[in-house]
Amino acid sequence: MEKLKIAGGYPLKGTVRISGAKNSAVALIPATILADSPVTIEGLPEISDVEILKDLLEEIGGTVQFSNNEMTVDPSSMISMPLPNGKVKKLRASYYLMGAMLGRFKKAVIGLPGGCHLGPRPIDQHIKGFEALGASVTNEQGAIYLRADELVGARIYLDVVSVGATINIMLAAVRAKGRTIIENAAKEPEIIDVATLLTNMGAKIKGAGTDVIRIDGVDELHGCRHTIIPDRIEAGTYLILGAAAGEGILIDNIIPQHLESLIAKLREMGVPIDAKDDQVFVGKAEAFKPVDIKTLVYPGFPTDLQQPFTSLLTRAKGTSVVTDTIYSARFKHIDELRRMNANIKVEGRSAIISGPVQLQGAKVKASDLRAGAALVIAGLMAEGITEITGVEHIYRGYSHIVEKLEGLGATIWKEDLSNEEIEQMNQA
Ligand code: EPU
Repeated sequence: MEKLKIAGGYPLKGTVRISGAKNSAVALIPATILADSPVTIEGLPEISDVEILKDLLEEIGGTVQFSNNEMTVDPSSMISMPLPNGKVKKLRASYYLMGAMLGRFKKAVIGLPGGCHLGPRPIDQHIKGFEALGASVTNEQGAIYLRADELVGARIYLDVVSVGATINIMLAAVRAKGRTIIENAAKEPEIIDVATLLTNMGAKIKGAGTDVIRIDGVDELHGCRHTIIPDRIEAGTYLILGAAAGEGILIDNIIPQHLESLIAKLREMGVPIDAKDDQVFVGKAEAFKPVDIKTLVYPGFPTDLQQPFTSLLTRAKGTSVVTDTIYSARFKHIDELRRMNANIKVEGRSAIISGPVQLQGAKVKASDLRAGAALVIAGLMAEGITEITGVEHIYRGYSHIVEKLEGLGATIWKEDLSNEEIEQMNQA
């Protein structure tokens, strides 16, 4: 186990290249289960969530090769092996194995997923969708059992706009009999990416990216080659980091349209941004104005960037309010930022940030993936040395973060945890 150390206050400059989207990758990889011949996905990020899914596909009999960010999955000898325990519990997105295995085998046993603790994260809408398609779904000792004689298309209205439920129902429905209509569907770019892969595999899907998706089931899906979209949340993190600690950073391999809400807020703060086709330049602001943020479903301000953005807001002169309407407990980074001298109060679903303050290096702990990103940004802005534990959360979603930051001139390094620190982590 290791920790990250950052010597803050050094201005960052240069170009950073964004990796493939984590939240697409974790759905594209399970989607390969639905084909009957090899599927190749190009541009996958090198993150632990991808490695875990690769292992899970191998556990169910798939042949997987992964090198140079390209994964080829031969699903032809996969079997419907139960996965009640083990690696499925390490990531939230293992729930996509339910939709994909149900679609292909008409049965699956998947342990309830893990992932970041951000408040209650039910999967009732996924289950409602599977049941509407004709599956019986039961929870037996912490594992979800799904069985169907056949899957038949249905009209499904999501009571909550959910990325996971939209994708999972799509995965189950592409090989169902007849037409499925998902209403009140989520519209995130990752949904379009998964629909594009499935369409290349022979699925018939219309409307991905809108709130009504129509799927006409097919009997078979075949192999294909697919290039993943860039990670808008990683890109957004580097945009915020560039604003917070940069003197001119070029973000390469980005789709600026995916980040319009963030770019608008950065401009409102006074950060110079120059957006091109697949690159965005973030310049140094003269001063930072306070802004209010409310997280919303896409294309609103993403909840995943709320935590990193909070670190930047500590530099704004005045009071900013960040409200998370998606998750009730995504504020675990606030206590850690306070240790670093931030002046932030949490009231209900809002964080009230008063600034400007000069953050000070401290020993802090990443409680989840984006909290980790917030602490890295804070460490780069701070005076002195910041020590971050819980970095395994960060490695779940940020490919080569240390190398990328070093490339921008940051002073950041990894150190092994002492025995005493490991003991403390185990007790926590
Ligand atoms: N919800 C329900 N019932 C459901 C599903 C969701 O009530 O059946 C609620 C959730 O509790 C939450 C809201 O609906 O309040 C939105 O949840 P959603 O299902 O959209 O989230 P998710 O699919 O589990 C994905 C990303 C998250 C990201 C959210 C919101 C993946 C693997 N995860 O989660 O990413 O925060 O969408 O955009 O795609 C991250 O990358 O750090 C991360 C947590």
